[in-house]
This record gives sequence, structure tokens and C-alpha cells, in this order.
Amino acid sequence: MVRYVIEEVNDSMVLGESVYLPSGELLLATGNRIKERYRRRLVEMGYHSLLIDVEGTETVRPAPTVSETAQREMGNALESSSRGLSAEIQNFRNQSTEKIRELIKKNRQHLNKFIMTAGVARALEQFIEEIMSQSAVVLNLSVLRQTQPSLFIHALNVAITGLCIGKKYKLSYEEMKQLGIGALNYDLGLIALPKELLGKPAETFNETEMKLYRQHTVFGYHMLSQNHMIPTTSAAVALQHHEYQNGSGFPRGIIGDNRPPLKDFSRKNMIHRFSEIVAVADTYDACLFGRPEMELSAMNVQTALRYIIRAGGDKLNSDIVRTLVSIVPIYPVGARIRIVNAPTPQLIGNYGVVARDNPDNLETPQIIIYETKNHQKIKPVLIDMHRHSGFTLELVV
Ligand SMILES: [Fe+2]
Repeated sequence: MVRYVIEEVNDSMVLGESVYLPSGELLLATGNRIKERYRRRLVEMGYHSLLIDVEGTETVRPAPTVSETAQREMGNALESSSRGLSAEIQNFRNQSTEKIRELIKKNRQHLNKFIMTAGVARALEQFIEEIMSQSAVVLNLSVLRQTQPSLFIHALNVAITGLCIGKKYKLSYEEMKQLGIGALNYDLGLIALPKELLGKPAETFNETEMKLYRQHTVFGYHMLSQNHMIPTTSAAVALQHHEYQNGSGFPRGIIGDNRPPLKDFSRKNMIHRFSEIVAVADTYDACLFGRPEMELSAMNVQTALRYIIRAGGDKLNSDIVRTLVSIVPIYPVGARIRIVNAPTPQLIGNYGVVARDNPDNLETPQIIIYETKNHQKIKPVLIDMHRHSGFTLELVV
């Protein structure tokens, strides 16, 4: 299977994976040809790419870091809890900051019903088990780039990213749980902001709007810290996920020291390590999907990593940034590629697909070449870039 950008899909292509409506209903099943009217509908729904069956690439299957079943369960659980929470909060969403804080406290019993529900907790355990049982951590979120993500999909991606980083630092199961709860709920406070504010570019915020936007960290913290099911370290993530290493973040302007996020009691009054991990995961997610209020538009994996590396040191914990970079395949399995440079000149310009990761060096995967530069299909050839040097690839997705 090869992932094609939706603009390149035509009705001679056969779908390699079923696509679903946001309601979970099947829209188009595997094996169908993609008629133009379906393609247009998928574009309208926000689909960015599709997996296509291509002869000779049957063994290529993009493997998401967490199984699609677990992701779907988490998605459903988060959606219903965020719907419930949103309904509870809508009555006081447009009040003053002080009033909102007071109402969060007063309504805590109602709000608590929708935070870390049994369904979310179960799905989180499944996430942790799947991530902890993998021998090599490879972060693959590309499968989720298909549709326009909503708030809770961001939480799901950030949780997967954060937990993968946590595994690389060998966190215990209990620590992974605290980190996971923080990563699923870090932006909960956004729900208490006026709807018009979300999706608006930060540069257009006036002073009052900026102040209010920054309060989402505090609102989130209040919602979580009054809930006995939420560990203090997880609630801290909501409060601190916009703090920067150099102290220029918000709401408190506390600092970090760019050290590995391991248990260290000398770091009192500094950004908590779980918040530092979630800050990296959140910024990476914001780069991949775009985030108007952070003035970021959607980037591909390479550009997103470059952005994250630049933010390391001053803004993001640079040790955690290095760890993220080490687990993100620059060439994700299933991605369509073009050969820019090759030891055999006639291969230059040909098209292929990333067939398999090499966990020891994610920059040198195995590829299958199946198309000439003039889009003529050829007999598929497998090349292991780890064994043959001199190849440069470009992603065409
Ligand atoms: Fe946030």
C-alpha cells in the first residue's frame, strides 16, 4: 500500500484501507475504486491522503504506534466526555475570569463526572500497555493526518507522543499513567474559553483576549486539581504546558534546565518534567496539524522536526526534543517517495514507497521502487538504504 496525497488520487486507483465518516460509519470500503465524487467528498471532509493498493507493495502496511482499535476507543471515550464537559460549562463560558474560576469550583461535582471517565482510563491503560510492550519506540502519527482533528484528537496524539517519549526515558508504569493523564487533559481549560477565541490567530488577539487565552492553563489546572482521581503531577501539566525553559512562557514564567526529565528533587519551583514532555508533544502536534492561536500552519514531518529543534533550549527542553527526534521516522512506512539521488543514475526521479523502518537508523529505511519518473509502472525493486549508500529521498506526501 502507498499513501498518496488526495490531489494525486484518480478513479483508476483502488483503496487500500476503509474510510469512515466522523460518526464511525463506513464511507468507502477497502478494494473500491475511488470515483471522483467520493474523492471530492473526502477532500471536503478534510482527508489529506489515502492509502492506495499498488501491485508489488502488498506487504507495506503503515503500523500506527498504538492500534487503531485502541485509538478509536480512546477517541470515542474522549469525545463523549468532552461533549458532557462542554455542556456543563456552556452556562458560564462567557463570564469574567474570576467568575469562571469560582464556577469551576462550585460545579466541581458535575465537572468531575466527565473528567477521566472509566472509558478514558481503560483506553489509557491500553495505550500504555501497547507502547510499553514494543521493543523499539517508533512514533507514527501519520495515520491520524487524514481528517481535520478536533480538540480531543489533539489530546489523543499528544498522549501517544508523550508516552513514547516517556518510554524512551524508561518511566515506570505508574509514572507513565501520571504522564498519560496529564497529556490527555492538558488543554482541558480551552473548553472554558469563548468559542470565538479558539481558531483565531494569536496575532489578532487584543490584550484582554490574550490574557483570557493564557488563562486556559489556570482553568484546566483548577478543573483537574479539585478531582481526587487526578494525581497532582498530572494537574501540573495543564498549568505548565506553555512554560518555557528560559522563563518567557506563561502563566507563571517558571524555568527549566534542559536536563533529562528524570526524578530530581533539586528541581523544585521549576517546570515539572511531565509538563516539559507534554510541551514538546503539544508543539509537535501543533506543527503537524497547524494551530492558529500558536500562529502555526500544518507542516510535514521534516519541517515540524526542524521547528521543534529550533525551539529546543530556549523554549522546549532540548534533551526531550532530541529524544522526540530519535523516535520519529523521517520517512514513515507507506509514504510515497521520489529518488532525488542514487548511486545508479537511472534510478534518479523514480517513485517508490517506504516499505520498512530500520529502528537503529530511521533515516535509512527499506524502500520499494515501482514507478519511473514518467509515471510508468515497473517491476517493483526492494532497496535497503542501510546497505546501499548514496540515496537521497524526497517525500511526495
Ligand atoms: Fe494549551
